Amino acid sequence: MRFLHFSDLHIGLGLRRVPFLDWGGKRLAGGLNLLRGRGRHFAEAARKALALVDLDERLQPDLVLCTGDLTALATHAEFAAAKELLEPLPDGSRFVVTPGNHDVYTLPTVLEGRFAKYFENGLATDLPDLRTDGAWPLVRLPDDDTAIVAVNSARNNLLPWRSSGRIPSPQVEGLEAALSDPRVAGRFVFLMTHYAPCLADGSPDTKEHGLQNLDEFLAASAAIERGALLCGHVHDVFRQVIDAFAGEVFCAGSATYEGREGAWVFDRDSQGVWSGRRATWRGDVYEVEAEGEPVAGQGGSR
Ligand SMILES: [Fe+2]
Ligand SMILES: [Fe+2]
Repeated sequence: MRFLHFSDLHIGLGLRRVPFLDWGGKRLAGGLNLLRGRGRHFAEAARKALALVDLDERLQPDLVLCTGDLTALATHAEFAAAKELLEPLPDGSRFVVTPGNHDVYTLPTVLEGRFAKYFENGLATDLPDLRTDGAWPLVRLPDDDTAIVAVNSARNNLLPWRSSGRIPSPQVEGLEAALSDPRVAGRFVFLMTHYAPCLADGSPDTKEHGLQNLDEFLAASAAIERGALLCGHVHDVFRQVIDAFAGEVFCAGSATYEGREGAWVFDRDSQGVWSGRRATWRGDVYEVEAEGEPVAGQGGSR
């Protein structure tokens, strides 16, 4: 069993492509951010997205897991471009995705359900009876010892300087129930959400940038004995052990941010032990480390 995890492509198409009527307050602030140079960091996002598709072809993972921020300003043009660049992944059954704050950038985007219009297949669940809030939590059971469980921590922030997230209460409750459901309990769980529970050094994110109800989220995840928490949002690629989670945190950072690119590849060996390997951008291609390090917290809990 093998999974590829990437995040934060931030496919942007420049400000000329943003329809005039879409220039709400928040998007205007985001646009000004792009003008100030943030867009420059993602100048080659399209080329790197295509390189991820090439990596997928070479690795042939069973699932491809994306933790959001596919777009920069959540415009139709950006969503269409992101989907087209990632072809054939979004139209298949191997793609699992959770949105980032940039994918729900404005309130109309949220009300329209724009993300689901473009990435509906990635929101499929094997256990629809466990949903408590729209598509969430989504659960995929690729074999009899593994579960993917995802919740949506992204929200529209009205204040331009705020990029914090929050998992709605029905999803927190649904997550706790899903993890103790007999069809899920005892499996190795890949828990996916956009917001990272810590920064690269293990310290907490700021109030304005982090997950508001992180403690609730981690408490709801306490039933996980073996697992990995997959995230993005913090644009650094790292793996980290934190007190409140029994497994290990894997932040895929941004696959397209100039100078910080990366992704993760997870493999399970014949003993059932999962390892993580880092994928690194080599200027024209993504390369994966030859040897993986076992995911923390797998010893003795089975
Ligand atoms: Fe991001
Ligand atoms: Fe984000």
